[in-house]
Amino acid sequence: MYSEKVMDHFQNPRNMGEIEDASGVGTVGNAKCGDIMRIFLDIDEDGIIRDVKFKTFGCGAAVATSSMATELVKGKSIREALQVTNKAVMEALDGLPPVKVHCSLLAEEAIHAALWDYAEKNGITIEGLEKPKSDISEHEEEIVY
Ligand code: FES
Repeated sequence: MYSEKVMDHFQNPRNMGEIEDASGVGTVGNAKCGDIMRIFLDIDEDGIIRDVKFKTFGCGAAVATSSMATELVKGKSIREALQVTNKAVMEALDGLPPVKVHCSLLAEEAIHAALWDYAEKNGITIEGLEKPKSDISEHEEEIVY
């Protein structure tokens, strides 16, 4: 049911934890399952994501997708981080069962929320970044399985 990569990231999650004095912090939840994700970003003056950590009260698929998502945005620019969609994360994990696709949205939305927080704190606008949702189940219907 789950790929080896999903099992690996679930059993050995990368970048779990938190960053003190993070440049941006984003928290999102899914009202349907009650799971919550928080992402911490450390962004340097050149706009490069130097470090990223996540904390979750979520299912195994949420842990695995967040672990992979943090690996994909680490060391990247803000613009590159915006390209890390839940689809890209799922591809990097060799797929997820259809009923677990919504779990991968937690990581994507939490990264966007953390970038939004960073932009607000610094009084800047990040092109292509929309105001994050606090509840991802609002747009689950839009997901194409
Ligand atoms: Fe809620 Fe996976 S079941 S995030």
